[in-house]
Amino acid sequence: MLVLGIETSCDETAVALVEDGHSVRANVISSQIAKHAQYGGVVPELAAREHLKAIDPVVNLAFREAGAGIADLDAVGVTNCPGLIPALLVGVSYAKGIAAARGIPVVGVNHFLAHIFGAFIDRPARLLDAATFPVIALVVSGGHTALALLRGEGDCRIVGTTLDDAAGEAFDKAAKILHLSYPGGPVIDKLSQQGDPGAVAFPIGLAVRKDSKNGGANRLNFSFSGVKTSLLYYLKKHGYIEPPNATAAFSGGAPPDFDDALLDVVASYQEAVVDALVQKTLLAAADYDAATVVVCGGVACNSRLRHKMAAAVEHSGRDFIVARPEYCTDNGAMIGGLAYYYVCNSEVDDFSLDAGARLMCIDSIPVFAGTR
Ligand code: KG4
Ligand code: ZN
Repeated sequence: MLVLGIETSCDETAVALVEDGHSVRANVISSQIAKHAQYGGVVPELAAREHLKAIDPVVNLAFREAGAGIADLDAVGVTNCPGLIPALLVGVSYAKGIAAARGIPVVGVNHFLAHIFGAFIDRPARLLDAATFPVIALVVSGGHTALALLRGEGDCRIVGTTLDDAAGEAFDKAAKILHLSYPGGPVIDKLSQQGDPGAVAFPIGLAVRKDSKNGGANRLNFSFSGVKTSLLYYLKKHGYIEPPNATAAFSGGAPPDFDDALLDVVASYQEAVVDALVQKTLLAAADYDAATVVVCGGVACNSRLRHKMAAAVEHSGRDFIVARPEYCTDNGAMIGGLAYYYVCNSEVDDFSLDAGARLMCIDSIPVFAGTR
């Protein structure tokens, strides 16, 4: 079954052609990052206009790469939530147009669940094996930081979430304070490799102490606003940002000089974010006796997170799966792949399919185990 996967929820126009859920025949991404960089974040209406320009050429390129034509399609999957509404509507409308013209099903796909699926694209056997479940999945991107519990029977629920910023935002906003390029995650990752992660003790949001009985209501939740503010105050106190006030720093005060000590600060900041992600993920895995821990979403590209999470999960005796970098950041393959399972389960949409900004319809996943 050949499925066209379309993803336009944020700033990438991403399209893939996926055979039977896992064989990716084309995976094309047109990024708008440069268009949004001057604003330091994604502007929804600008994103929608850029998707409109890009979607047809990107779809045509995907067909060329796959050596397939529109007549070969069996279904269209499209991200319909959560995301920026004007941006989502471009993909949803385009997908409905193709489905109507070809008389094939259209499937709305939840972007959050698709990120989790992204970790299984090249591991179909693991996805279909009941022993893989329960899964604790850390979905960590520019829009989300949440822990999901997935059971083989098809239920999925959020067991922990950020109370403020997503981890990707914590990187992007820190990069903005430091006058680094957007998005901040990749550049902070790179700079941190030259610094000492133990140099500055930045706070770990909602950390659960070893002697704490259960950590209270926020045991599995995250918070990144504190560490971001600590970074800002640290930089001010040590004379790295001029003029020394928060508003000016966020809106373009003079860039700091990047000396060795500042590399240590950046590495220490990254460490605090990574340690929060690792600690909460391991707590969730223990609470729900997860067989497997999955890490996915754009921030899962982070080299320090991949390294520390792999070591910690393996030490806990559970299996660890991290998505391949090209399936961590937004892509069409995770959409087309997950859509295949919905079609297999006869869970398809009609032309009333709409876009949603919020994380809706998260309570169920297709039953993977035993699908074949
Ligand atoms: O999944 P994604 O492409 O889009 C969303 O759904 O948000 O994630 C984008 C986020 C950005 O915040 C970016 O800074 C972050 O992923 N990111 C990274 C790295 N690569 C991308 N964060 C930390 N380290 C990286 N290597
Ligand atoms: Zn995403």
